Amino acid sequence: MRDEDRVQAGGSPDGETRITDDGDRGSTRRNLVIGGAVVAGGAVAASVGITSGASATTATGAAAAASGKPKRSTGKGAIGLTVNGRRHRIDAAPDTPLLYVLRDELGFKGPKFGCGLSQCGACAVLSDGKQIRSCVTPVIGVTKKHITTLEGLADSYHGTKTAPGEQPEKLHPLQQAWIDEQVPQCGYCQNGMLIEAADLLSKTPDPSEDQIIKAMDGHLCRCGTYNGIVRAIKRAAKEMH
Ligand code: FES
Ligand code: FES
Repeated sequence: MRDEDRVQAGGSPDGETRITDDGDRGSTRRNLVIGGAVVAGGAVAASVGITSGASATTATGAAAAASGKPKRSTGKGAIGLTVNGRRHRIDAAPDTPLLYVLRDELGFKGPKFGCGLSQCGACAVLSDGKQIRSCVTPVIGVTKKHITTLEGLADSYHGTKTAPGEQPEKLHPLQQAWIDEQVPQCGYCQNGMLIEAADLLSKTPDPSEDQIIKAMDGHLCRCGTYNGIVRAIKRAAKEMH
């Protein structure tokens, strides 16, 4: 697995996929920083960007399972959602977590399900440029926002518009720094780390080490990549300013 794939896709759910540089496990670090698909069994799919219909669990069904009682859907295509510069119409109950809509309805596999309780950060996305936890955000609350997932991070920075299913031509400086510093291990937490780092650098272009640690404090990494993350954020900050 190459570094580039791991910073695009965000890692395998069970941590079994190991980073190698020869791509023999079907994924690379590049995919782990730009938002590739996680497939059943823990391998990270080599394809990146938007995939559709990847999960048997629908957003409506997931919300019902989480709450214990089914919620009524708003009707076909009744909810509008802007993700990575494109407007989507979806059919989901209003209180469906944004994470389920992104992953199960729209196929954005960058954000991950970790705790489901706003505790780990794996599900983070940007809402109008600010980091939010999509696992506890009802989809109805962000219909007027611009949502950016890991898949759209590079386009949002460079002002480009990569076609669905394609890889961006140029990575976000943070994604490149993640690769250069060889940050990701299993990769599962890396989506949230990159999203939070993007939020931080948009507000604080030249953060001190203390500011970086404070900003990243709410994100958990069981592989212990914290030192690499600090190095990568400093590197990206230099590149960006
Ligand atoms: S899955 Fe959302 S914070 Fe853990
Ligand atoms: S890289 Fe494995 S949990 Fe962070």
